[in-house]
Amino acid sequence: MYAAMRSLLFRLEPEQAHGLSINLMRVAGLVAPIRYILKTWFYVAKKPVRVFGIDFSNPIGLAAGYDKDGLAWRGLASLGFGHIEIGTVTPRPQAGNLGPRLFRLPEENALINRMGFPGRGAEFVTRKLSGSRPPGLVLGVNLGINRDTPLESAVGDYLSLMRKFAPLADYLVINVSSPNTAGLRRLQAKDSLEVLLFHLNSERKILVEEITRQVPLLVKLAPDLLDEELDDALDAITGNEMDGVIATNTTVGRQGIHSSLAKEDGGLSGSPLRDVSTEIVKKIYARTSGDLPIIGAGGVMSAQDAREKMDAGAKLVQVYTGLVYKGPALVMNILKEL
Ligand code: FNR
Repeated sequence: MYAAMRSLLFRLEPEQAHGLSINLMRVAGLVAPIRYILKTWFYVAKKPVRVFGIDFSNPIGLAAGYDKDGLAWRGLASLGFGHIEIGTVTPRPQAGNLGPRLFRLPEENALINRMGFPGRGAEFVTRKLSGSRPPGLVLGVNLGINRDTPLESAVGDYLSLMRKFAPLADYLVINVSSPNTAGLRRLQAKDSLEVLLFHLNSERKILVEEITRQVPLLVKLAPDLLDEELDDALDAITGNEMDGVIATNTTVGRQGIHSSLAKEDGGLSGSPLRDVSTEIVKKIYARTSGDLPIIGAGGVMSAQDAREKMDAGAKLVQVYTGLVYKGPALVMNILKEL
């Protein structure tokens, strides 16, 4: 059934199609009978897993970037996700890069995006996250800096976002790996990451008094880090008591891409990223002796792909591009076979 829907959706510009799907899911979130029908169609049995002190009803989640402003998560939860990650949220609203900024590469089951964190800003998103929660859903919020924030002031942006979202989210993600905000990935470098994570870890300890729990903090990493850079980042991550990592964000590489769209700037996601990100998961697992929880993301289109991420050491797995190419039954189909 999705094949027919997909050919219609793919006639729209990628961003228009995405906007439509967000709107449909937003409406589903508002209307209980639609949610009920979706839950029945996309029924998934529980496959509980406990990671960084949180109980997930299953290991499959929605990656950041799909529901940036927290508009549709209550509807999206009906597709069976164990967790949904909102964002990337920036402190202030911003328009992102000029379009076109999202490209489909259907022959490769891939996307290239250079969105540049468009969004309505933290204040708006806090309102969208307040209130009722679908039962059993774990909610993460992915945090980033505004485009006009100088890198020297990045710590301030992340701290203010952590204070805002710690009371609303089950876990928070420090996104230092998007390729579409100039300079952001430099925050993965040893000294910068050390300073950033030190401040965040100290501040979250102070926040415990207010929210009566220590909010789990994860760091989202790029797949393009060299071995030495990955080692340095992991030292800063474990040294500052981070609770886990997400591996990985999109790649600036163009391995195995034949489409003429390969020349477009931005981050590549989907099938061509799959093995690159699985390799990073393996390296992180080996270098941390399996002690650091890993969420695997990149090119997961099937149960087999999800299994590979878990065999490499991921405790949880996220999807984004797979949802575009395989449709809303993806989560159910993965979980049936896991
Ligand atoms: C993303 N991704 C992303 N990641 C992030 O941390 N913050 C973001 O705002 C976005 N935005 C975004 C937009 C679009 C259009 C895409 C395709 C992706 C990256 C995403 O969360 C994920 O890490 C990668 O896409 C790899 O997974 P898939 O897509 O191959 O399953």
